[in-house]
Amino acid sequence: MNKQPTVTLGIESSCDETGVALYHSQLGLLAHALHSQIAIHTQYGGVVPEIASRDHIHRLVPLTQQVLAEANLSLSDIDGIAYTSGPGLAGALLTGAGFARSLAYGLDIPALGVHHMEGHLLSPLLEKPDLAFPFLALLVSGGHTQLIRVDGIGRYRVLGDTLDDAIGEAFDKTAKLLEMGYPGGPAVSALALQGDASIYTLPRPMTDRAGLEFSFSGLKTAVLNTWNKAKQSRQDLERALAQEKLNRLVVAGGVSANRRIRQTLTEIMHKRKGEVLFPRLAFCTDNGAMIAFAGSHRLQVGQHNLNLDFSVTTRWTLEELAPVET
Ligand code: KG4
Ligand code: ZN
Repeated sequence: MNKQPTVTLGIESSCDETGVALYHSQLGLLAHALHSQIAIHTQYGGVVPEIASRDHIHRLVPLTQQVLAEANLSLSDIDGIAYTSGPGLAGALLTGAGFARSLAYGLDIPALGVHHMEGHLLSPLLEKPDLAFPFLALLVSGGHTQLIRVDGIGRYRVLGDTLDDAIGEAFDKTAKLLEMGYPGGPAVSALALQGDASIYTLPRPMTDRAGLEFSFSGLKTAVLNTWNKAKQSRQDLERALAQEKLNRLVVAGGVSANRRIRQTLTEIMHKRKGEVLFPRLAFCTDNGAMIAFAGSHRLQVGQHNLNLDFSVTTRWTLEELAPVET
């Protein structure tokens, strides 16, 4: 098993952000750079896949040059390349995969396709690499709402999933309904800080169901949806902690940037005398650092894609991933 110190280049291009980062297996994160496409897609009210792909192509080389310059390194210092190979938009994923695989081929170094949600799941560990396993992970992004038991890197069991929309999607739909642009999370959460929670009483569906599923649709409006999701998630979370006898919680994904959600989850874990860990704000939404970090752990134990051909996976469950034995 190769445990030499290594530098991993991480590439994220699954949706509307191009993220590039350099991670050193012993020194930690060396540099990261991000280009958000929000300004480009906002006039369409959501991500236009073809435009996303084209923009990634423009950004990948300059962002890579930028992180190398920031870390004071050159291409020959890179030991391996990790890129998001799914889930996400096929065209957008292919731009990052094509770039990463050809650069790795040119440099004669290993490359590895990384699961986007594993990147999110492990991103809080960038702040605290020695966090002990097992823990419960709450993944809350634009495409996913999941409760996962984590027994180690690559050892994931999905305990609860959304039955329909993801929580970020509910934020985004709410914003669309209220004509607040895209993505909805930041705008809705900023507005919520000035709101009065006592004015409207909203229904709470499915709170007494036995399972750990979430539900994000079926409500008359997306506004009700968002409100309900937040409450639903809290109850599912507490049941999952009890069921799994866990008292360590990791929260990740774009929605983990939400101040109110952070506050509430911190209070819950404080009351339970447990531990909670969030990514730093810059790494809640999509970024290259989380891909470099997840990829570094896998490349370190010799995992990489051997064949010259490559593909991306638009649908992919975390439970299919290979464990990383440490
Ligand atoms: O993780 P992410 O960048 O992309 C996916 O993997 O899906 O998450 C994006 C989602 C969007 O739905 C966005 O509205 C939401 O995260 N989001 C937020 C906040 N910042 C981003 N939701 C609530 N509060 C926020 N502050
Ligand atoms: Zn994401």
